[in-house]
Amino acid sequence: MEKVIIFGAQSLLGKECFSVFSQSKLYEVIPLSHYNYDLLNAEELKKAFSDHNPDIVINCAEFADIDAAEKKENEDLVYTLNCDAPEMMAHLCTKSGTKFIHFSTDHVFDGKEETYNEQSPVHPINVYGESKVEGELAIWEENPYAIIIRTGTLFGESSDNFVTQAISLAKKHRKIFAVDDEMSNFTSAKDVAESVFQMIEDDPEQYGVFHLFGKDFTSPAIIATKIIHILSSRSALTLVHADEAYQQAKRAKKRHLEASRGQVLPGILETFPSIVSPI
Ligand SMILES: NC(=O)c1ccc[n+]([C@@H]2O[C@H](COP(=O)([O-])OP(=O)(O)OC[C@H]3O[C@@H](n4cnc5c(N)ncnc54)[C@H](OP(=O)(O)O)[C@@H]3O)[C@@H](O)[C@H]2O)c1
Repeated sequence: MEKVIIFGAQSLLGKECFSVFSQSKLYEVIPLSHYNYDLLNAEELKKAFSDHNPDIVINCAEFADIDAAEKKENEDLVYTLNCDAPEMMAHLCTKSGTKFIHFSTDHVFDGKEETYNEQSPVHPINVYGESKVEGELAIWEENPYAIIIRTGTLFGESSDNFVTQAISLAKKHRKIFAVDDEMSNFTSAKDVAESVFQMIEDDPEQYGVFHLFGKDFTSPAIIATKIIHILSSRSALTLVHADEAYQQAKRAKKRHLEASRGQVLPGILETFPSIVSPI
């Protein structure tokens, strides 16, 4: 049985990848968090490889706080997690003939184009996005056979995210604040994990950048409106502009993904019935 290690296994996507790969019973799956191996320490990262000798590595770990990434004092942390650690993983995977799957983001784009596919030039406008681009480039230097998946705004039941927070507030009829001028592809983390699993099953040899994202390109405010409607909630919705909501990092207002070789996944309304149980 092939062995898969998942870095960042406590993340939303990490939990879904763990569940999909382990439920298949085709792989031995080892979930790793910073408690097991601190990715800020290259020696610990190397030890994760020598301890487990994986056939496949899935990297869901990252420095994820887009606003905190702008602070000078976090610079080392951001680049170590989003660039140096994936670079080292890619290097170790090349050395051992291990398949490497890494996740990236729609924040590598500036939002000036209508849509972005896998061939679109990257142009990040915040430090987080820059660090993810640097990570992608460093991976290609070390491992041309890696898979890099770029996805949109993730939601899912296994961790806190905008959708679960809005559902929880709507169920309690509490006020919901939602940004109305930032649009992205809302994407089910479970669907991404299932799609990655299928990619590996269909063709373990494929490599390159793939966009995997939910088909609904929308704003948090629209999502919140739908949640309030579906739940017949009395929650009041307060619309907020992105510039007021986020204090530090600039965000591209429209990060509309397109797939030339990746996959468009189901929209949020198709996924809702399973995550929004009635009040
Ligand atoms: N969330 C989104 O909306 C979104 C959108 C587009 C792309 N993505 C991509 O999807 C991937 C996963 O995102 P996510 O939101 O699911 O992740 P997340 O919930 O933000 O979690 C990040 C993970 O990184 C791990 N980590 C942080 N510092 C670490 C360290 N020093 N050593 C080891 N692990 C460390 C954490 O592990 P511990 O819990 O063990 O500390 C945490 O589980 C990322 O590559 C991201 O770019 C996410």
